[in-house]
Amino acid sequence: MFSEVSVGVRGQAAVLVVGRFQGEGLDKPTRALDKDASIARALRRAESTGDLGQITEVFPRKGAARRALLVGLGPRGKLSLESLRSLGATIERKLASIKEPSARLELSAPFAAAGLAPPLAGQAIGEGLGLAAYICEHFKGKGSKPIPRGSLALASSDPAFRAGIERGLALAESTNLARTLSQTPPNIATPAWIASEAQKLAKDHALACRVFRGEQLVKERFEGLINVGKASENDPCLIRLEYTPKAARKGAKPVVLIGKTMTYDSGGLSLKINNSMRGMKRDKDGGCAVLGAMHAIATVVRPDVPVVALLAAAENSISDEAYRPDDVLTYRNGVTVEVTNTDAEGRLVLADALCWACEKENPACIIDLATLTGGVVTALGSTFAGMFCDDDNLRTRVEAAAAASGDRVWRLPLHQEYRDMMKSSVADIVNSNPNRKAHPIQGAAFLASFVDDSIPWCHLDIAGVHAVESTSGPFSEGATGWGVRLLAQFLTT
Ligand code: BES
Ligand code: MN
Ligand code: ZN
Repeated sequence: MFSEVSVGVRGQAAVLVVGRFQGEGLDKPTRALDKDASIARALRRAESTGDLGQITEVFPRKGAARRALLVGLGPRGKLSLESLRSLGATIERKLASIKEPSARLELSAPFAAAGLAPPLAGQAIGEGLGLAAYICEHFKGKGSKPIPRGSLALASSDPAFRAGIERGLALAESTNLARTLSQTPPNIATPAWIASEAQKLAKDHALACRVFRGEQLVKERFEGLINVGKASENDPCLIRLEYTPKAARKGAKPVVLIGKTMTYDSGGLSLKINNSMRGMKRDKDGGCAVLGAMHAIATVVRPDVPVVALLAAAENSISDEAYRPDDVLTYRNGVTVEVTNTDAEGRLVLADALCWACEKENPACIIDLATLTGGVVTALGSTFAGMFCDDDNLRTRVEAAAAASGDRVWRLPLHQEYRDMMKSSVADIVNSNPNRKAHPIQGAAFLASFVDDSIPWCHLDIAGVHAVESTSGPFSEGATGWGVRLLAQFLTT
């Protein structure tokens, strides 16, 4: 892993990186770079299978680079942007392991031959490189030996491919910001700390930022945040960020992004048992992804529509002041909620943000991201996020952004029968039905009570995808920053 990856035009590169499809010879541009035919000879080695990501090392006698990597691209018909992200990661890991500081990537011709245009192919490679280079060492102390890491300078003769790599690296940086926030432990990353990070982001990138806390939460009747957060000495807050385009599209309404930002989820009085609390520092990853997306929006995407981010930040803790099962909460839209389980807290704070968005922001659409249910982990694992969206237009756009970004979504149903499951005999609705049916859908059905029917809304349950247990594609163990690149892509027109 490198400490920094950059791409430029100038300079001699130590390593030349070229590619070949399985069962095919070298293409013409690659042959032109192969001054002493050493790459062509390497192609015939038994190890050189041409499988996707298989790398053959070559030491040419002639030519600009002292070393060449011949990268297998698999069968020509199978290459996709997703495989390019993994390939970018493979190349990054290889260059890091051989400790080479610079590389010239001459891959855009075979990518184009597989139908992947240089800007997009470059972006996918750049994302893979930037995501794989990430390592979070912030919390390593004197007790560990620091791993020396150099920087990697990339070059390519194709300017469109180069620009793509640059964009991909920038999007990876925004994603890595979300990963670092996620990694930050709950004794540091309190709601107030998240708010100060949001304020820093706003200051650095000309976003507006407002934080509701204390009396302002009471004044605005943010019932969920107040109640879920009240057992913790780390007070809750609602963080609002706004991106305003330089030249807005005429009549454009804002896209509203909402993130569940539970800085720690102990379960509250319905305490989590059997070590299921472990890892709940990452229950803020919806909010972290929204912050990463705002970074990408301000630095890379710069859409011509306004974007509003709302982070509902609290810590779900226990004390004599904790909210309890049997409490009834009254929301600002008039809906009353009987608390049946204090561990179904995410939906309670999201409800505040959804009410606010519908009432105050005049949204073109709302997308919320939340590590909402363990059920979605059981159903979809870490491969797809659960998506709930009954607006055909918005759903098509989210699905397209998911396919292009590699942050995959799978649709789950919203149906009146699920909403009926949320009815309460005491209040209007319960926050969790005591039987264990359809947990992810219960969550979505609950949230639907806080969204105006006329506003296109998409709920993404990211409890399975926000982190991985071991290396997967470009990600190493820990947070994935899931959603940052999906939202960036969604706002790319
Ligand atoms: N934050 C959890 C969901 C979660 C589980 C996130 C695993 C990441 C990994 C959420 O607040 C929760 O506790 N959900 C409960 C809901 C239940 C009490 C209705 C769950 O899924 O068990
Ligand atoms: Mn919970
Ligand atoms: Zn939670």
